[in-house]
Amino acid sequence: LQIIKAEYTASAVRRDQYPESELMEIAFLGRSNVGKSSLINSLCNYRGLARVSGEPGKTQTVNFYTVLLREKQGEESERFPLFFVDLPGYGFAKTGGANRNMWSTFIGEYVEQSPRLTLLCLLMDLRHPGLAIDQKAYEWMRSHGVPLQIIGTKADKLKTAERKRNLAKLDQLFPGTFPAVAYSSLKNDGRDILLNRFRSMI
Ligand code: GTP
Ligand code: MG
Repeated sequence: LQIIKAEYTASAVRRDQYPESELMEIAFLGRSNVGKSSLINSLCNYRGLARVSGEPGKTQTVNFYTVLLREKQGEESERFPLFFVDLPGYGFAKTGGANRNMWSTFIGEYVEQSPRLTLLCLLMDLRHPGLAIDQKAYEWMRSHGVPLQIIGTKADKLKTAERKRNLAKLDQLFPGTFPAVAYSSLKNDGRDILLNRFRSMI
């Protein structure tokens, strides 16, 4: 599976700013700095499509990217257009202190007001499976009945054995989701598995 086109489409803080379209949506959520924007860039093979930063709290709005998927070989193979939706990270506020568990209201509004949300990818740092705030995000999404794909990010920072162990932990901690995928945006590890998962959803 390939992504043959990816482009920025819109940023929104309210429903009436979401793009008017019938396309399915795959959204990406996780703690600030976990690697959501990097993952979108890696999937699309497009550095700089989504803004990446070493500082948490970079993505503050709901950002829509139009993406065109295609089976690997042949000009005539079927194409699948969809949106990737980059959501603001949670767990960080510039003011710090009491707001540290900040969960942007845009996240809940997006999930509740997006009938074409097909899969929500919940990104978690593979080095730290089971953080309380990630548990909360999972529970919130489960209670809203959103199909979930857990992704363990920054897999390149772990040795193979630890990768496996933590991936198994994610599967154990978050039942009712698709099998967790280890991902490295640096090395594109996990890319094919994830694109095939998306393909199976559309
Ligand atoms: P917010 O928009 O602030 O919520 O962050 P985000 O989740 O979009 O994270 P972003 O993609 O901006 O990445 C945050 C930092 O982690 C950047 O310094 C990235 O270079 C780094 N990073 C992201 N993915 C990986 C990865 O797979 N491996 C490694 N080693 N670093 C990564
Ligand atoms: Mg981001």
